[in-house]
Amino acid sequence: MYRSNTCGALRASDIGSEVILSGWVHKLRDKGFVAWVDLRDRYGIVQLVFDEERTSNELMEKARELGRETVIQVKGEVIERASKNPNIPTGDIEVLVKELNILNESKLPPFTIEDETDGGEDIRMKYRYLDIRRNPVKNNLIFRHKVSMEVRKYLSDQGFIDVETPYLIKSTPEGARDFLVPSRMNEGQFYALPQSPQTFKQLLMVGGMDKYFQIVKCFRDEDLRADRQPEFTQIDCEMAFVEQEDILNTFEGLTKHLLKEIKGVEVDEFPRMTFDDAMRLYGNDKPDIRFGMQFGELNEVAQHKDFNVFNTAELVVGIAVPGAASYTRKEIDALIDWVKRPQVGAKGMVYVKCNEDGSFKSSVDKFYDQDDLAKWAEVTGAEAGDLICVLSGPINQTRAQLSALRMELATRLGLRKSDEFAPLWVIDFPLLELDEETGNYHAMHHPFTSPKPGQLELLDSDPGAVKANAYDLVLNGNEIGGGSIRIHDKETQATMFKHLGFTPEEAKAQFGFLMDAFQYGAPPHGGIAFGLDRLVSILGGQETIRDFIAFPKNNSGRDVMIDAPANIDNEQLKELHLKLDL
Ligand code: AMO
Repeated sequence: MYRSNTCGALRASDIGSEVILSGWVHKLRDKGFVAWVDLRDRYGIVQLVFDEERTSNELMEKARELGRETVIQVKGEVIERASKNPNIPTGDIEVLVKELNILNESKLPPFTIEDETDGGEDIRMKYRYLDIRRNPVKNNLIFRHKVSMEVRKYLSDQGFIDVETPYLIKSTPEGARDFLVPSRMNEGQFYALPQSPQTFKQLLMVGGMDKYFQIVKCFRDEDLRADRQPEFTQIDCEMAFVEQEDILNTFEGLTKHLLKEIKGVEVDEFPRMTFDDAMRLYGNDKPDIRFGMQFGELNEVAQHKDFNVFNTAELVVGIAVPGAASYTRKEIDALIDWVKRPQVGAKGMVYVKCNEDGSFKSSVDKFYDQDDLAKWAEVTGAEAGDLICVLSGPINQTRAQLSALRMELATRLGLRKSDEFAPLWVIDFPLLELDEETGNYHAMHHPFTSPKPGQLELLDSDPGAVKANAYDLVLNGNEIGGGSIRIHDKETQATMFKHLGFTPEEAKAQFGFLMDAFQYGAPPHGGIAFGLDRLVSILGGQETIRDFIAFPKNNSGRDVMIDAPANIDNEQLKELHLKLDL
């Protein structure tokens, strides 16, 4: 038997009992006549004591030589500690060691296994297995486990069936590039790893499964960010015989359940906002509504004066930043530099200080009088003490820039509180999105999303105006889930593919299986997928999903621990009928 108890379990009530413990040497303190070892495992830390009075010389020596992270087993007696440590649960006791076995030696770890480690990100990723021994990473993984267990429990209780779908499939367009896998047995042909199980879950509905879910890996070859990994996990769900309302209610239920069980937070009914309103009021389809600073469109009140920058702009739009009228000239200049950074890309920023005495001081006083500025304050909802920040230019760009500024300022002002949760449904997404480079439309969500009733006809005349039965769940400014009511008849699906630029032959070659299935009694259906990594990290009060993934990839898509991707040898290439031509 390696252990009778874990390192976090022993309490004062165990005093007097004989125990066997196994774990890692966290720390050794040697005072000469007495030595203490902190023994650590997943469950906590317990203090071992060796002293000259009660411990043999041989054992004393053995203890003194223990290096950090050595794996040991001890037998001993639980005794009361002379000086108690109220900071750890085992702080009332220590274990007087009678027998010590070294189970495995350890090289000196390249960083300290402490909550605040001296190791940088790169070295911790290379030795991720050591990083996982640290509380912050370990606790994140345990937290993730709790969330996914709650998800399984809730959905299973609601009658959802967990069905696995294949990983070696044919490409499904979800907007990113596919990861491809060459087939040895089928020369020149490739599988794609799923960007999501989208078509399979729809086929499960045709198969009558009715309520499906799966916690499933998805693969997308896209540029990485803090909230994106090339392989990530979805809570993928689909239901038959449902309307949008049924889906929103079911998954609002799931999200509320998680907030309550995991965070102890009860939230009211989730607000719903149309995509158009989200863009108009927040410049963003995933607005963070934990704080205000809604956009105020100023075209009407700021144009037709002598300020040409505004007169020629498609959109003039501002936000009122609470309490920021006190910013110094230097602080405001720094803000202007911030919006001019290439990552944001604004040409400049106009500002208005709303003074406590009700007067205004702006960077464009030459063009606007106090009455004009009072109107700006009204439109942006600015109060005395606020700073109005105004950007102008083409609609989409300007909204994106002001949205970036809004988020930055909210972060600086401490308005993005990690223990506050503000969920939001964004609904009525456009069906299609114009690719400004190619001039082609592509599906905003994916090609299986149905248009709103009666809008199909618009596809020919005004494709950009067609709204979809599509929705996103947003939590604290992050898109944590998205889905739609699907097309379930062959003709509509064929029309959709036509509008997305597929010839009937191409549509048949790529999606014939789905359109065939639609001819055998496909029920009306719809669904949603949550990004589990994102959901977990936001519930955990953070936004970097890497911290909640056991073995994540770095920003170049590499696993630096196993050193992947890697070259393969010629033999392997030959077997796969591949020739590298670099
Ligand atoms: P969508 O593409 O919106 O929908 O993806 C669903 C959710 O998955 C998360 N997500 C990601 N998380 C981490 N890294 C990534 N690279 C990444 N990409 C997406 C997001 C997102 O909201 N098949 C549809 C769902 C449906 O229609 O039912 C789909 O995949 O949180």
